Amino acid sequence: MQETFELVVNGQRHVSASPRDTPLLHVLRHELDLKGSRFGCGLGLCGVCFVLMDGHPTPACDTPLWSAAGRKIVTIEGLGDSDSLHPAQQAFQREQAAQCGYCVSGILISAAALLADNPHPDEADVVAALDRHLCRCGAQRRMIRALTRRADAA
Ligand code: FES
Ligand code: FES
Repeated sequence: MQETFELVVNGQRHVSASPRDTPLLHVLRHELDLKGSRFGCGLGLCGVCFVLMDGHPTPACDTPLWSAAGRKIVTIEGLGDSDSLHPAQQAFQREQAAQCGYCVSGILISAAALLADNPHPDEADVVAALDRHLCRCGAQRRMIRALTRRADAA
C-alpha cells in the first residue's frame, strides 16, 4: 500500500502521496500551488522558503515531507490577505520595506513569529529574529525600522 502523509496547511487538510523525503517546499509549490514560499539555496541557509510549522519559522526546503506530517503549517498565503493584512505585512507596507520582494515572504514568516511572542520588539529583537534571512537588495534597515516602528505606533 502506498504511503501517504497528511498535512494541515493554512487550515486546510492535504494528503500527499509523494515520496517521504520530498522537500515540504516542493509539496507546497507543486501540489498545493502555494508559490509564495520561494526556492533559494535549498539548504536551509537563505530563509526565502520559511513557513511556520507549529508556530516556528522553519525552512521548507530542508524539511522532508514525513517530518511535516501532522504538523500545523502556515505559509505566507495563510498569514493575511489584501483585505486583512497581518500586522507584520502592514508594517512592511507602511515603511515600503520591500525592494525586489524575493526574500520578503520568508522574512514576514519570521516577523510574524516574532510579533506573536513579542508585540513590541526592539532593534536587537528584530535583528535576532531575522538572523537566518538573506536580503540581496540590502533592504534590512527598512525591515528593521518597519518592525520597530510598529512597536512605537502601538
Ligand atoms: S531555499 Fe530554503 S533556506 Fe534557502
Ligand atoms: S527585497 Fe530583494 S532580496 Fe530582499
